[in-house]
Amino acid sequence: MDNFNFYSPTEFVFGRDRETEAGEYVRKYGGSKVLIHYGGGSAEKSGLLDKVRKSLKESGISFAELGGVQPNPRDTLVYKGIELCKAENVDFILAVGGGSVIDSAKAIAAGVCYDGDFWDFYSGKRVEKALPIGVVLTIAAAGSEGSGDSVITKEDGMLKRATGSDVLRSKFSILDPALTQTLPAYQTACGATDIMAHVFERYFTNTREVEITDRLCEAVLLTMVKETPRVIVDPNNYEARANIMWAGMVAHNGLVGVGRSQDWNSHGIEHELSALYDCAHGAGLAVIMPSWMEFVYKHDVMRFCQMATRVFGCQMDHEHPEVTALEGIRRFREFLHSIGMPINFAELGAKEEDIPNLVEKFGIGDGRTGGFVSLSAEDITAIYKIAVNAKV
Ligand code: NZQ
Ligand code: ZN
Repeated sequence: MDNFNFYSPTEFVFGRDRETEAGEYVRKYGGSKVLIHYGGGSAEKSGLLDKVRKSLKESGISFAELGGVQPNPRDTLVYKGIELCKAENVDFILAVGGGSVIDSAKAIAAGVCYDGDFWDFYSGKRVEKALPIGVVLTIAAAGSEGSGDSVITKEDGMLKRATGSDVLRSKFSILDPALTQTLPAYQTACGATDIMAHVFERYFTNTREVEITDRLCEAVLLTMVKETPRVIVDPNNYEARANIMWAGMVAHNGLVGVGRSQDWNSHGIEHELSALYDCAHGAGLAVIMPSWMEFVYKHDVMRFCQMATRVFGCQMDHEHPEVTALEGIRRFREFLHSIGMPINFAELGAKEEDIPNLVEKFGIGDGRTGGFVSLSAEDITAIYKIAVNAKV
């Protein structure tokens, strides 16, 4: 196991109706003038925003509002949010929504405390200071409620880029599984796919003797394999929603990846798809991740066999381990398809002729990237090509 620091300072407030305590937690973490930041309408429609407004009022906290965050959140709204926070002297941002809303809130939080263009943080500059943020989560997916990361798309050129810093970690995150019961099956499945991908990015490692994190990863993956089909059939299943919601946090706050190298190429390769086609991140991952697995599995066949046997219940073929490894990947793709995810370019609405453009925007030139298997631009082209015709 490698040396590591593990820092996860967020207070997680989990369970039914906990969103009614939002005001109390904003006060606890020093907020007196809040920006409520939200998405395209689901939180208004469900009555969640009214509950949050009421809770803030009851705690004597004044607030401004900025809605309209789109999935794959845009820089244009971030600029508006920064201006609004400055004009209204906002000292705390409350994100009410999913990963897109939270990431947009993080970008605003960093931008308010910076004299230059906030996009600098998405082009390599480190965030040193940000307004405090809090979260009321409405979808189990991106894990932004527990991560220090934020992903924003620059409209000019549709560049999707990430930044990460501990100062962007939420002070508190309210996780009420009942809030996710209004999610359409497709969004639920996109979220489940993203959660599994966050684990796989860490599971495929070159670090040896990491039994504890291997087993934690497998626990999250097995939970997702069991619980996702239950909520697809029965969206109101609170217990299954609760397990998924906590799995989404555990998958991405860093816990399951400590002390081991990680990969993250599938995320980078996917981000170009969601930037170009504005598809859901989870749907893009369903197309890319099994294709990436098929491309890299020979690098460590036994690790793929471990996934196949422990997560997807495959029988180990000791004479032909490659058969087991490939069967595990096949079952992963089959699982994704069974929960309604696209698995190839056509099902996602992507086009083969865009591959050179996708690879160019990925932007590694003659370099290589990835912590498990280091990939060149040519390798990335090959992965997109596998994804074009993937089948179950
Ligand atoms: O905008 P509204 O109307 O709220 O609708 C949203 C949106 O259309 C809807 N939704 C959310 N909660 C709902 C609901 N609909 C009904 N009932 C509810 N309770 O779901 C749609 C998707 O929401 P979004 O926030 O985009 O989903 P997600 O949480 O998957 O976030 C995706 C974004 O996070 C980034 C992705 O790249 C993408 O931009 N990621 C962020 C990460 C991070 N910050 O750590 C890591 C991830 O790997 C990921 O890259
Ligand atoms: Zn993700």
